[in-house]
Amino acid sequence: MDYVYKNPNAPIEVRVKDLLSRMTLKEKIGQMTQIERRVATPFAIGNLSIGSILSTGGSVPFENAVSSDWADMVDGFQKSALQSRLGIPLIYGIDAVHGNNNVYGATIFPHNVGLGASRDAELAQKIGAATALEVRASGIHYTFAPCVEVCKDPRWQRCYECYSEDTEIVRKMTSIVSGLQGQPPQGHQHGYPFVAGREKVIACAKHFIGEGGIERGKNEGNVILSYEELERIYVAPYLDCISQGVSTVMLSYCSWNGRRLHSHSFLVTEILKEKLSFKGFVISGWKGLERLWSDFPNSEPSGSDYRNCILSAVNAGIDMVMVPFRFQHFMEELTSLVESGEVPLARIDDAVERILRVKFAASLFEFPLTDRSLLDLVGCKQHRELAREAVRKSLVLLKNGKDQSKPFLPLNRKAKRILVAGTHADDLGYQCGGWTKTCLGSSGRITIGTTLLDAIKEAVRGETEIIYEENPSNDTLERNDISFAIVAVGEAPFAEVFMSGDSSELVIPLNGPGIISLVANRFPTLVILISARPLLLEPWLLKKIDAFLMAWLPGTEAQGITDVVFGDHDFKGKLPMTWFRRVEDLDQQADGVKMHDPLFPFGFGLTYSKD
Ligand code: GLC
Repeated sequence: MDYVYKNPNAPIEVRVKDLLSRMTLKEKIGQMTQIERRVATPFAIGNLSIGSILSTGGSVPFENAVSSDWADMVDGFQKSALQSRLGIPLIYGIDAVHGNNNVYGATIFPHNVGLGASRDAELAQKIGAATALEVRASGIHYTFAPCVEVCKDPRWQRCYECYSEDTEIVRKMTSIVSGLQGQPPQGHQHGYPFVAGREKVIACAKHFIGEGGIERGKNEGNVILSYEELERIYVAPYLDCISQGVSTVMLSYCSWNGRRLHSHSFLVTEILKEKLSFKGFVISGWKGLERLWSDFPNSEPSGSDYRNCILSAVNAGIDMVMVPFRFQHFMEELTSLVESGEVPLARIDDAVERILRVKFAASLFEFPLTDRSLLDLVGCKQHRELAREAVRKSLVLLKNGKDQSKPFLPLNRKAKRILVAGTHADDLGYQCGGWTKTCLGSSGRITIGTTLLDAIKEAVRGETEIIYEENPSNDTLERNDISFAIVAVGEAPFAEVFMSGDSSELVIPLNGPGIISLVANRFPTLVILISARPLLLEPWLLKKIDAFLMAWLPGTEAQGITDVVFGDHDFKGKLPMTWFRRVEDLDQQADGVKMHDPLFPFGFGLTYSKD
């Protein structure tokens, strides 16, 4: 116990300084390196003093691994780290962006855009706390969440990871940070990381900064704004996270006025670290340094090109690098840059101090291994009830009745026969969207949960006949004994990979309008849109249907939808984004002008009650 850094009662800053003073350059650079699970070996962890391991979306120990399998894997890595010369524990990170979404059986909450519709800060905090428990039960210490960008353009594929187009709503929802990490006590020093013990996780405000305003919604693109505007729109949510003790900040792949954030020392060092007083660590995006190379992704930089990427990124202020694969190469180049004096040793020390500070704040030295008593909480009833509540609160009712004096909802749960149709009525994977099980997300029964069809059957409790046909047949369409129809359509899941979700047209895909019109021509119809963002609604289509509901990407608990459409609860959600009438109109908004003549204004949302 003569090492001060091992003494849990010594102040964190004293422990940091003590440990730093004992470290070799090699160990310091190891701490700055984050590698992917697939290349993590006991040698790399134990001998190179690797600071962190991550699973990117879908990088699982094996297909359908449950929490205890994850905990076994992470603990195995951790034991190698503890056997290293100084025994510095590693941080295992994952994208738990709407629940612990990579893990089979975890509770999947609505994606952030849906939570933005609820505008409910307390709800976000509770979701953060539940997610923290499910993440820690799986052995993982760190989530790359929340995304606190302000999304101005739904053509951008990552819009659903953002809470709103409105800075004040995003600010409100940053309460999720104190759910994930715990609430710092009175007097906690601004800027310093805070994590309240073994039931909480290290959080990450991302992706710094301004990417919600990229030109024409083009992923990884350019943001053209004055500094004053950047500050006015985008800084406050980060500052709110920092005030709550957020431990880490991830940089965006985007550029600000032509310069990539990953090499932007003004924004990273002068603004984030100095002006906003952030004392946790700054992490790069996945292969974020490679992106500084002009030919990426056609080819990866090598030789002096890669060296220059490392040089500008580390000197700009990046503390931990999500390498993720060629870590030996990265470590050798960075070592040589320090030896040549191109990267000052003081810069390395600053990075390592910040990383160690987070590790001490998160009590990793005291509790490096999984607390298995948490395992029962993964996907537990209480968390699923919370997700169901979140679904209820996120729904936005946009039309109720062809004639306003005759509302169509709430639906009659004692109706004789209900037709349920559409690509999204019985597809759990579609309901959950991207970043579920895999990065891109997928279709089908990918985890444990309740589809809309399951929920409807449960809500009518056997008294009503449910006819389910994804694409109703002519025979069904000709029946005269169907009371009404519920049609669920929307987008297939996507995430940033391969730019799979950027869209310049924003139409309802998968023949959504075709299915809607087929059904609505015959029966009174409620349409539920399950999608990452507002999509084009042609006037003829909207006119044809009786009610229209935006459900965003609700996750595993679709009973939240039936709770409201059958009238047990009222609607609470209000649009967190303006609903455009014509896609071209989004250009006005992207240029900072309020959209005139939207289809539904920002904040719109109907309710049953009159007030
Ligand atoms: C990429 C993504 C980021 C994610 C990280 C780890 O950098 O942009 O959102 O957290 O990969 O998967």
